[in-house]
Amino acid sequence: MTGISHTAVLGAGVIGASWTALFLASGRSVAVYDPADGAEERVKSYVEQAWPALTELGLAKHGRPDQVTFHKTAAEAVQGAGFIQENVPERLPVKHALFAEIETALDPQAVVASSASGLTLGQMQNGWENPARFVLGHPFNPPHLIPLVEIMGNSKTGTQAVEAAEAFYQDLGKVTIRVNKEVPGHVANRLQAAVWREAIHLVASGVASVGDVDKAMSAGPGLRWAAMGPTALFGLGAGPGGLAAFCDHFADTFNGWWEDLGTPQLTAETTQMLVEGLNAVSHGVPVSDQAARRDAMIVAIQLALRHMEQPE
Ligand SMILES: NC(=O)c1ccc[n+]([C@@H]2O[C@H](COP(=O)([O-])OP(=O)(O)OC[C@H]3O[C@@H](n4cnc5c(N)ncnc54)[C@H](O)[C@@H]3O)[C@@H](O)[C@H]2O)c1
Repeated sequence: MTGISHTAVLGAGVIGASWTALFLASGRSVAVYDPADGAEERVKSYVEQAWPALTELGLAKHGRPDQVTFHKTAAEAVQGAGFIQENVPERLPVKHALFAEIETALDPQAVVASSASGLTLGQMQNGWENPARFVLGHPFNPPHLIPLVEIMGNSKTGTQAVEAAEAFYQDLGKVTIRVNKEVPGHVANRLQAAVWREAIHLVASGVASVGDVDKAMSAGPGLRWAAMGPTALFGLGAGPGGLAAFCDHFADTFNGWWEDLGTPQLTAETTQMLVEGLNAVSHGVPVSDQAARRDAMIVAIQLALRHMEQPE
């Protein structure tokens, strides 16, 4: 474990509750602040439900689910914490007010990471007197199961803060990447947005149904992408000549496809089309059951990949 044994989670909804479970599993204590009624019960129940998957993944060897405390203010919650994960609603005034409240209560070495998906680091830094210890630490939902964390600092961030965040997340078993330039959506969400845009276009233009487009992804490229990224995979797509040969063979093909890709908007009509298309294949199975099935599959894929890396 890195030197950080006590953490804080600010905002414990979908993302904060999941981070809480992972931090606890790693053997750290967690101080939670969330002003919503019933937050404590919801977080405890989330942690209880997440624990079996964390155990199966080997991420809960050192942890105890009861090492969590709940606090009346954010300033109280951050006291003594070496790492603070912020997950309050995606609204700048809410984030700024929180940063202003905690800034003077932080330990001198504490690092604060924001889970923000849409707001940029620069926008959030404006809420600090001194943003040196503040980084972006953007997870993928649910953070206790999906390894990726996108980390970003900039010229106003202390190098130490970025490195400390990276070491902390890696110690939790996360896979980290660095985002070097500020763009909306960071990296992974932009990739997702690009693929979803074309998925919607294919349905809207009558090429295939929602169910079949989803199937084309999960039974096709999605399966390969769980193993390797798109550029590495295409490096394997043209024999011993590798990526250079692939680009040489397929430049015209890809350039032609890119020109033809769609640019739909997520309007009310598009939403209606997608909802109807999804209902046709989900057969009324409740969202919670579908989510549980997704989580079980994510665990199984990761266990299979880990087995490849460390065969028994
Ligand atoms: N949901 C996702 O898929 C996802 C993925 C990655 C990152 N994120 C980011 O994580 C952050 C949280 O998103 P979420 O989906 O968990 O939202 P959410 O609405 O589920 O949770 C937000 C929580 O913050 C609490 N809260 C409100 N005001 C607060 C305050 N002043 N101090 C402390 N807590 C407060 C709310 O009571 C709520 O429990 C956002 O910045 C979002 O962009 C979300």
